[in-house]
Amino acid sequence: MSAAPELARLVLDELLPDVRNRAVKALGGVEGEAVVARLEQHHLDLIEPLFALYDKKADTTAFVRRLLYQVVATATGRSEPLRVLDRRREVDPRWFQRARQIGYVCYVDRFGGDLPGVRKRLDYLAELGVTYLHLMPLLKPREGDNDGGYAVVDYSSVDPGLGTVADLESLAADLHTRGMALCIDLVLNHTAAEHPWAVAAAAGDQAYRAFYRIFPDREMPDRYERTLPEVFPDRAPGSFTHVPDVGWVWTTFNSFQWDLDWANPEVFAAMLATILELTGRGVDVLRLDAAPFLWKREGTDCQNQPEVHLILQALRACVAIAAPAVLFKAEAIVAPQQLVQYLGAHDRFRPECDLAYHNQLMVMLWSALASRDVTLTRHALSRMRRTPPSTAWVTYLRCHDDIGWAVADEDAGAVGLDPTAHRHFLSTFFSGDYEGSFARGALFQHNRRTGDSRISGTAAALCGLDSARATNDRVQTDVALRRLLTLYSVVYAYGGIPLLYMGDELALPNDPHWADDPAHAADNRWMHRPPMDWSAADRRHDPATVEGRVFAGFVRLARVRAGLLALRAGSPTELFDPGSRSVLALRRKHPSSGSVVALANFGDDAVLLPRDSALPGLAQDSRMVLGAEGGLLSPYDVTLPAWGHAWIAEP
Ligand code: GLC
Repeated sequence: MSAAPELARLVLDELLPDVRNRAVKALGGVEGEAVVARLEQHHLDLIEPLFALYDKKADTTAFVRRLLYQVVATATGRSEPLRVLDRRREVDPRWFQRARQIGYVCYVDRFGGDLPGVRKRLDYLAELGVTYLHLMPLLKPREGDNDGGYAVVDYSSVDPGLGTVADLESLAADLHTRGMALCIDLVLNHTAAEHPWAVAAAAGDQAYRAFYRIFPDREMPDRYERTLPEVFPDRAPGSFTHVPDVGWVWTTFNSFQWDLDWANPEVFAAMLATILELTGRGVDVLRLDAAPFLWKREGTDCQNQPEVHLILQALRACVAIAAPAVLFKAEAIVAPQQLVQYLGAHDRFRPECDLAYHNQLMVMLWSALASRDVTLTRHALSRMRRTPPSTAWVTYLRCHDDIGWAVADEDAGAVGLDPTAHRHFLSTFFSGDYEGSFARGALFQHNRRTGDSRISGTAAALCGLDSARATNDRVQTDVALRRLLTLYSVVYAYGGIPLLYMGDELALPNDPHWADDPAHAADNRWMHRPPMDWSAADRRHDPATVEGRVFAGFVRLARVRAGLLALRAGSPTELFDPGSRSVLALRRKHPSSGSVVALANFGDDAVLLPRDSALPGLAQDSRMVLGAEGGLLSPYDVTLPAWGHAWIAEP
């Protein structure tokens, strides 16, 4: 028998009576026993990973005991409204998989000015059917350039420019009243160089030096850098920063973002305390920023190491005991074969993150758009491991980051494409440099050594709207809007929580003033982070305007989706070939309420698909429940206009 189960039994036997006493005393018999039951249910998922991670470094028994008391104290200290949420979600653990779930993501300042301002805009979000609001980083960041808030100096306070902790709690309560969930960012991989831990480390405090990875000279950095890819090759080359009188500090991202050393159990304990504190604020989902980077190993790219998953699993188990209403969302923008593991899909399943960004779907949608051909998209998506049924994707088209071309060499090769040439084509196409391209994005972080680049730009700009508007071309404006809605129709049908990126519902263009702020000037991702244009939003109910047409399209997507049980997450998504290179076809099934077929045409021409050969098995009395102008379902065939889409539902 391995030592971890022995330890688990020991801890449980020793702790259980005391935990029961405390929990029952604080919460009464019914709820107190629920805390005990959660401890019994999840303790192994906590102890096994911790044992594997830290047994050689610490007295694991004492460490586990200490953490468990912290966890139980959080559970017993939770406010009544949050305990009600815990209870509801324990009864209904698949709540986030519902077809009516729609996500929206925005910057607090750019959307509402500050947190109270966001509270005033909830009716707007309700029009779009939003049930899940992700607010970009809002904990107190360093002054000046802070990578859009991803360089935090204090995890216990809110950025004073955005409001206070009390404002955050009030917003969460408002959202809950409306049946909406709140997601916020948690930066686990690094702190700002100005965070008190980093300041203490720089001042020579040995305990805090051990929170980071600091080297006296270039020997180890050079060894690591032999296999480390650069995240910001242009703006922050290399992965280490020389800090005078301190040494070479590991800084995967910017020089002011110091990587934490998760091999140190005290880092785990400190970040767990942060997480537990945030669960008390009414946050429903924590977006675990840059999760793949948490563990470093010489000779590797220092991403997706097995220990990363152990860390996430142990944190997950702690939260499952302390605040079962709370979910984890992995921000793991990694290769397709590494992605599903963040949902716990390993050879042996252990709960890990409940949600993860479907980066591969996002990349493959853009790839299909540029090439007017879905062969690679279908192949790559079909080849991915299945997700555990208790989890869900977050499906999306755009976010605040650039688009990196995560096209696996094997996938490109399997459909006869040269992977490097295809990635290069995508960057050239979306930057607008490709002959005849309608897109108006910009290259991000061109790496001179590898030739790789990524892309910035709003969804509308990448779909051709900015170029169409520049020449006042009505036909191309119409085509661009169809592209945008067709791409999002896949995002809304694929399975998971679809996440609408602020401004896409109004087809906002690139921000022409993005570089005016000196703290942003070196980072062109700000071109697709425009301030919300509320005057454009005022036109959203006018069907004669671009905004009116797009907004109505999103409202419709949400309404139709909410009524289709087959579109809920948790059941597989089956991609099939309807006999056209330009049509992406997928089928979602519900065990008792029939299936939905979603079709999206990425071609410049209309397509006619014979029902017999293209959609075999589709019930005769199926109906087209969503379709772009000109889409038609007859007893014999389906017609899709150029860049059009359709959802067909079986009764
Ligand atoms: C994530 C964020 C990105 C940020 C990085 C470092 O990838 O999405 O914007 O630059 O983490 O925190």
